[in-house]
Amino acid sequence: MLAAAELIRRGELVAFPTETVYGLGANALCGQAVQKIFAAKGRPGDNPLIAHVCDMRGVEPLVARIPPLARRAMEAFWPGPLTIVFPKSGAVPDAVTAGLDTVAVRFPSHPVAQALIERAGCPIAAPSANRSGRPSPTNAQDVYADMQGRVPLILDGGACGVGVESTVLDVSDGPLILRPGGVTQGMLEQALGMPVRVHQAALKPLEGEARSPGMKYKHYAPKAQVVLVEGAPEAMARRAAQLYDEALAKGNRPCILGTEELKDIYGERAFYPLGKRAQPESIAHNLFAALREMDRRGYDAVFCETVEAQGVGLAIMNRLVRAAGYKIVKG
Ligand code: TXA
Ligand code: MG
Repeated sequence: MLAAAELIRRGELVAFPTETVYGLGANALCGQAVQKIFAAKGRPGDNPLIAHVCDMRGVEPLVARIPPLARRAMEAFWPGPLTIVFPKSGAVPDAVTAGLDTVAVRFPSHPVAQALIERAGCPIAAPSANRSGRPSPTNAQDVYADMQGRVPLILDGGACGVGVESTVLDVSDGPLILRPGGVTQGMLEQALGMPVRVHQAALKPLEGEARSPGMKYKHYAPKAQVVLVEGAPEAMARRAAQLYDEALAKGNRPCILGTEELKDIYGERAFYPLGKRAQPESIAHNLFAALREMDRRGYDAVFCETVEAQGVGLAIMNRLVRAAGYKIVKG
């Protein structure tokens, strides 16, 4: 930990665990250090980063002001998987915000992330610690697979709890979820006492201008072709089984990504468990590691069950439609 904090202070990169996914961190107040993140990830320079802080007051030097709605959201959900977009202060380098006049800030709840930020003595800018376009890493091995030779140190904190990235909330024009995540629309509505909108790009390809630059990039994709199957659970499973059989007959190496509840319908077909339909949190927790496992096992055609786009299910479907390049068939 001390070595990790020292690396951050010296302007180097450190990969570290958070409660959502692993991050690739650098001193958020040092433009040169932050540039190294973009190089290591192969990330487009116009996609801004989240600045991570280790207490409520850490946000103050980074922002021009704290809007009242942001304050309420901070009090309800920090520390935790919620990122809030603020008007930025002059202290934040352009490399972090990709030249925007706003800055995204998050106070993670993971003790290792908190200790690293505290000991480094500066806010830490960090995107997910994957190579750009790949599924986010939710354990240290998956960080290593993408980042070996590109980052001097990976802090291993075991598997991440939430498994999908933080919810990104914009409050500049009423509360708007730019990226659904662990803190759900319902949880935000309850805490803020008002309707919270979800950006139209949550489940569809982006039309028009990107409010959040991350929206316009391909994401989360394994090398295998992923096809999502929609419908009532049993019909969905039968359709996935049929698509699997067709792919096998064509000489592909198919696999079904599905839930425990429907597993028996697949019989002897190659199946990888995503979790329990009745516990969508378990699916979020397993999702990215499961997508990565498809590549490791050499599957080239993945047929994946869908879940209802509600609560945590919205965050899951947001990642799945991108992994599938929006390819969805009906059950
Ligand atoms: O859970 C998480 O948020 C993880 C962990 C490491 O904290 N981080 C993460 O970072 O997912 P990244 O870079 O993969 O995603 C950041 C998202 C992108 O969609 C980006 O476009 C958006 O936040 N974002 C960053 N700054 C923004 C800003 N000023 N305005 C709007 N969106 C912004
Ligand atoms: Mg990312």
